[in-house]
Amino acid sequence: EKEVNIAVLGLGVVASGLIENLTIAKEKIKQQTGVALSITKVMVRSKEKRRAQAEKHQLTFTTEIDEILEDPTIDIVVELIGGVSDAKKWITQSLQQGKHVVTANKDLIAQFGNELTAIAKDHNVSLFYEASVAGGVPILQNLNTNFIADEITGIQGILNGTTNFMLTQMAEQEESYEEALKTAQTAGFAESDPTNDVDGWDAVYKLIILARLALGKNLSLTDIETQGIREITQRDMTYAQEFGYQIKLLAQAEKKAEKVYAAVTPVLIPKTHPLALVRNEMNGVFIESKLIGSSMFYGPGAGASPTAVSVLTDILRIVQGKEKEGPATQMSCSELPKGELAKRD
Ligand code: HSE
Repeated sequence: EKEVNIAVLGLGVVASGLIENLTIAKEKIKQQTGVALSITKVMVRSKEKRRAQAEKHQLTFTTEIDEILEDPTIDIVVELIGGVSDAKKWITQSLQQGKHVVTANKDLIAQFGNELTAIAKDHNVSLFYEASVAGGVPILQNLNTNFIADEITGIQGILNGTTNFMLTQMAEQEESYEEALKTAQTAGFAESDPTNDVDGWDAVYKLIILARLALGKNLSLTDIETQGIREITQRDMTYAQEFGYQIKLLAQAEKKAEKVYAAVTPVLIPKTHPLALVRNEMNGVFIESKLIGSSMFYGPGAGASPTAVSVLTDILRIVQGKEKEGPATQMSCSELPKGELAKRD
């Protein structure tokens, strides 16, 4: 039996979900993989009020990153603290110390994913981030397995649960934008400052990560036409429904002649399209590729348990050593030397 020790940075919703779910799944994981996973340290901003959780799960709390970086018994650091600057520093230091890293931090991976992946490679450790896109939907690992022999030409995704919940309320309960925002806040989806969700930035970060892995293109914020849902009215909804459409905040990236067009905007989707059926806080990613054709991934885009399962799956991929460095960028067929592949068009 192999023992693997994990340190978690942060103790918010996803981190608490991870601790709870690992307690439940620990024995099953041990039986199936022969690996005993333990969370041994948790870094928090303040240790006060943490005693009950510490005792229940036999955790050690620390406020100092060095107590994790300098602890040779810790194999994997899970970053769930969010933000960019500190998280980047701590992930870099962890990788440099030879520790594998798992993160759910989409802002960070969208902006600095390539840099951090290179650092991981230099130190022969892994960096995985399945939970950063579409919460519990296993989309990134599928891009790295099922699509390797294929070539993706376009992605369309409902990648933000909060706005999708709001648009569903507006379409089905006839709520106004303001009412839907309040309902989303009461349900615990939208933050008190909902800017990142309603103005599209959360979906933009997720699209940058998807486009990098699926289309092999590094997009920056300015490459993506971005429009949120603030301007959508109840009247728009009624008209859309009347003509057989749903309004969705759609993240799209399409490759044409090796150029990528990318946008996050409200879009009219025919009610018969599978993406129109993605309701409430659910996410959906529709992929077009040369060999498979159309395929779709669907599931909860947020929430403690689904997101924590994505984090746990990354931990297991590292422990099992199946893929070493983390998600790899897809190579476009046209980037291969001539004659390596039969032309597919
Ligand atoms: N604010 C995000 C959403 C959370 O609503 O989808 C998950 O990234």
